[in-house]
Amino acid sequence: ESSEIGQLKNLYKTAADVYHYMLTTAEIGEQALDYLHQRGLTDDLIEEFGLGFAPSQDFLKTYFETHGIGDYQLFRKSGLFTEHGDGSLVDRFHSRVMFPIRNASGQTIAFSGRLLTKDDKSPKYLNSPETLLFEKSKVLFNFDKAKSVIRRDGEVYLFEGFMDVLAAYRSGVKNGIASMGTSLTDDQIYQVEQITKKVLVCYDGDQPGQAATKRALDLFEDSSKIECEVVNLPEKLDPDEYVRKHGTESFKKIVHDDRETVLEFYMRYFKEGKNLGTESGQLAYITDVLGETAKVSDSLQIQLTLGRLAKEFGIDKMSLESQLRVLKQQLG
Ligand code: UTP
Ligand code: MN
Ligand code: MN
Ligand code: MN
Ligand code: MN
Repeated sequence: ESSEIGQLKNLYKTAADVYHYMLTTAEIGEQALDYLHQRGLTDDLIEEFGLGFAPSQDFLKTYFETHGIGDYQLFRKSGLFTEHGDGSLVDRFHSRVMFPIRNASGQTIAFSGRLLTKDDKSPKYLNSPETLLFEKSKVLFNFDKAKSVIRRDGEVYLFEGFMDVLAAYRSGVKNGIASMGTSLTDDQIYQVEQITKKVLVCYDGDQPGQAATKRALDLFEDSSKIECEVVNLPEKLDPDEYVRKHGTESFKKIVHDDRETVLEFYMRYFKEGKNLGTESGQLAYITDVLGETAKVSDSLQIQLTLGRLAKEFGIDKMSLESQLRVLKQQLG
């Protein structure tokens, strides 16, 4: 490709190769490689995902210059550098483990770099800025590799982060993608919808992850025909932490066998922060759950939910049903 886009893609490919070399072969990458091994990644996995290491402040710029690759204008547009007031460029990424972010065709279009040890000054993961190649809200991590498995299995696992996708992958769960954070977008949903009708939301077990799960379910509900289920990880763990604590076999089993329907998720989610020992807490909870039940069309799921609510709170199922009708009318 001779276009600007093509030049940027070439630059990113070279950067990915050089970062990868620094991690896997150069002595300076030893600490980063140890870090990844300690987090349970094998050399095969590092290879497969093309992970790398960005060493010092002006490493990449020096590399490009000494090899006669690119020019100032291309460097500026690449997002691989930050520009000083005097127009000089320095590497954006340094002292970070590098995750290449690839488009659906498998071309590297951005990076995310993780600090080896989190500090308070800079973000744990630093991402490429928006460029001609990269709009973060339109990309799903690992979509390129996962899409054929997603088609084959008829379902996809949606994770938050890079390490979650990798942990699932080494557990044999290869139909996993990541929204790269908790702000899933309509654009990402649209891409998923092109290849499958079923999404298993497997966000982190912590509070932000659970809140993001609710948001994701709402988005899928509003903007797609996709059917969702939720994987509920215990002990507030994220998928990567779960794999390291309980092992790959256990992970594989839990994501297959311990799936919640959307309503089961809400029955758990809405209990958070309410005092179910009080009547007002109970009413708030039942109202919240019925509010979500009203949006569901699967009558079996609805009946199961009403049955469980009736049993748990000693309410007549008929009155739950009439209350549900009221809520459905309000929805229109
Ligand atoms: P998390 O905070 O859950 O991090 O963010 P993580 O994936 O568990 O990271 P590890 O295990 O500590 O390495 C989930 C995802 O959100 C994005 C990244 O894609 C990350 O994987 N993120 C997070 C950022 O882009 N920037 C950040 O500073 C933090
Ligand atoms: Mn290699
Ligand atoms: Mn998280
Ligand atoms: Mn996490
Ligand atoms: Mn994690």
